[in-house]
Amino acid sequence: IMFKTIWFLNRLIHSGVSKHRSVVRLWSNAADGAVAPPADCRITAEQAIRLWAQHFTLHGISEPLLSSQYIISHVLGEKTLECVQRKRLRDTLTDRERERVWELGSKRLTRMPVQYVIEEWDFRDLNLKMRPPVFIPRPETEELVNLVLEDLRLIRGESHTTDLRCLEVGCGSGAISLSLLRSIPQLRVFALDQSQTAVCLTMENANRLGLQDRLDVHLLDVIKDADAILSKCNPVDFLISNPPYLLSQDMETLQTEILGLDLLGKTSSPPNLFLSYAFKCLCLPRRVYLEVAPCHPPIIQQLIEEMMPGLLYLETRCDLTNRPRFCILQKKGEDG
Ligand SMILES: C[S@@+](CC[C@H](N)C(=O)[O-])C[C@H]1O[C@@H](n2cnc3c(N)ncnc32)[C@H](O)[C@@H]1O
Repeated sequence: IMFKTIWFLNRLIHSGVSKHRSVVRLWSNAADGAVAPPADCRITAEQAIRLWAQHFTLHGISEPLLSSQYIISHVLGEKTLECVQRKRLRDTLTDRERERVWELGSKRLTRMPVQYVIEEWDFRDLNLKMRPPVFIPRPETEELVNLVLEDLRLIRGESHTTDLRCLEVGCGSGAISLSLLRSIPQLRVFALDQSQTAVCLTMENANRLGLQDRLDVHLLDVIKDADAILSKCNPVDFLISNPPYLLSQDMETLQTEILGLDLLGKTSSPPNLFLSYAFKCLCLPRRVYLEVAPCHPPIIQQLIEEMMPGLLYLETRCDLTNRPRFCILQKKGEDG
């Protein structure tokens, strides 16, 4: 079973990569019809926000006003428009600010996600560097982290003395691992990703946040490098993952921004990928927390019950919009 599963997974995941490779660099093409700066070069921040929002709308860019606000706030050194002083909005942009707004606005016109345009994004209480094509963390994943923290608190009580070890599969920008490290001082995290860019970005974010001492990041493929994972990351108390999970039929309807993320985001053949995670869980952690698509929990439950006798499917949790998005599994014989 083990051999067949790994072989099957390899084929499915890698056929997924080549199928969608053509769209990966869609938004890295040059901007189509960039907006001209004002003739006298005088424009206030407020006017620039309106101008770029209109321009984004004309070009069918999603969330035109928000995009424009994020870009201009960023150029003015703030995260959101609310943080920018009212007076500052009515001031004329300096030459350098105006050039920067035009540069970033033109990038957004290529449909590059605004998080890549401004090269940063907030996840819970962390500010993270973002770089294409590493997956941009989503709000649901903040819910996953909250769920894990709450679950661990219930299991461990208020005890803060015991050390904890965790493995994150597919760390991307490091959002999950770094959030957990920030919240649990006794935690050591092993994070792995098959993408070199993701591994580098996680390390960069860890260094910026001063969390690098309790983090080991490895360039490993969860399917191909099972032995290396076991030797480098074993033992751990829990495994957490927000694995690739877009179904291929979803690809037809996705926005260009998301298509540009391709496999580093969510594309894959889900149940089989999960099977491989589950397989490793038998040798590794006591608990497994997964963020999945709403259609996956019953599939995962069935697979666990049929093929993974050492694992117990504990429960499915819903996200804030009441969609079943999180699975909790437990090694049999563990009672929390
Ligand atoms: C949906 S992203 C999640 C990233 C990050 N954990 C987050 O929540 O923002 C999935 C991550 O899994 C990684 N990945 C995909 N297949 C993998 C594999 N076979 N082995 C290791 N990592 C993989 C991708 O490179 C990507 O960074």
